[in-house]
Amino acid sequence: MPVVIDPDTSTVGALLTALPPGAHGLDSAERLALWLDNRHDEYLVVLGPTVPFEEALAISDHLRISKPTISVVLVRAAVDTEVLTKAMHSGARDVVASHDLEAIGAAADRAQQLWVALRGPGGPQHTGKVISVFSPKGGVGKTTVAVNLAMALSDRGVRQVCLVDLDLAFGDVAITMQLFPSHSIEHAIGTEDTLDYGALDGLLTRHDSGLMVLAAPSLPDAHDRVTATLVTRMLRTLREKFDYVVVDTAPAFDEQTLTALDETDELVLVATLDVPTLKNVKVALETLDMLGMAHEHRHLLLNRADDAVGIGAEKVEAILNMSIAAQIATSIDVAAATNAGRPIVSATPDHPSSRTLRELAGRLAGPFGDEADQPAEETTSRRRSRKRR
Ligand SMILES: Nc1ncnc2c1ncn2[C@@H]1O[C@H](COP(=O)(O)OP(=O)(O)O)[C@@H](O)[C@H]1O
Ligand SMILES: [Mg+2]
Repeated sequence: MPVVIDPDTSTVGALLTALPPGAHGLDSAERLALWLDNRHDEYLVVLGPTVPFEEALAISDHLRISKPTISVVLVRAAVDTEVLTKAMHSGARDVVASHDLEAIGAAADRAQQLWVALRGPGGPQHTGKVISVFSPKGGVGKTTVAVNLAMALSDRGVRQVCLVDLDLAFGDVAITMQLFPSHSIEHAIGTEDTLDYGALDGLLTRHDSGLMVLAAPSLPDAHDRVTATLVTRMLRTLREKFDYVVVDTAPAFDEQTLTALDETDELVLVATLDVPTLKNVKVALETLDMLGMAHEHRHLLLNRADDAVGIGAEKVEAILNMSIAAQIATSIDVAAATNAGRPIVSATPDHPSSRTLRELAGRLAGPFGDEADQPAEETTSRRRSRKRR
């Protein structure tokens, strides 16, 4: 995936629109080394126009030797012969003008092709999308949304979807789906260095719909023993096998949740119409800014949106400075479907909440959903052009 560096967050946002989904933004070059050490599927570093030129050249020069499979693209406000010459000497693969998003996209395509070629005949690894559902508050509907999105994405088993319950202390995905897992994340504890899909497969529980579930530990005390490294390994292993990995989270920015957010391609933030929740969501958004999660990959879902409590959707958008991607009304049918162990999207597909959740799932799935069988290069460029639109 590409990673964009620029101290100016709006510049990062603009550059990300030219790149495929899953690209990440960082606001400082200092975090780059750690970032690249932890991610082996990065193939492009885009150094934005606000990064001082000499610093950009130094980073490029360093990556030329230390990470030769990663292409570096310098984005500059003005491109002249001197800039081109220095960039070439530093080993940068491309220099593009900051207004030319088309050229940045083309440079990303070339970087991806090179990376695939350098990786050898094995070709590109399958990388499914990680979609996480988060809210800093409990009881707002995270699990309801995660379960229904996962069901909608699996589309009656057409796509391979794994739902991971990362609410490690009080996870209730299994009970919500009336599953009785014999194994859970608890059984992966201690396998940070060895866990592979062969082992992880044995910990999954199959739902009738074809959806696979990695259940949370049965006892809350296991929470502290699930390390951040294990979370990374589990999610990376799963995304190599599944088209979508949907993650339900705990209502806290704990180490495991932060790690999951680092692996996340699309994040659904759940809010409700009450002041404490909105305040906490606002704080969470600021934290996401610090983590460098691009605005395009955050989707605000307003649950219980019709509650007459003196705050409306417009006010929520103004408070959070973000538009609402989907609204779900309070409905006894949603709660009843959950209580009956059949999430609303499968129990009542024509229900307004089901339609909203399916529509959101379609948007999160993105072009990947209907282009998974296309060649990698074609998929990347189509993804980008759709994203711009
Ligand atoms: N739109 C809704 N209408 C009615 N009940 C809902 C709705 N969304 C969630 N609920 C109910 O609210 C409770 C808490 O939801 P849950 O998804 O478990 O929240 P969280 O995972 O954030 O703690 C559950 O009983 C669920 O059935
Ligand atoms: Mg929950």
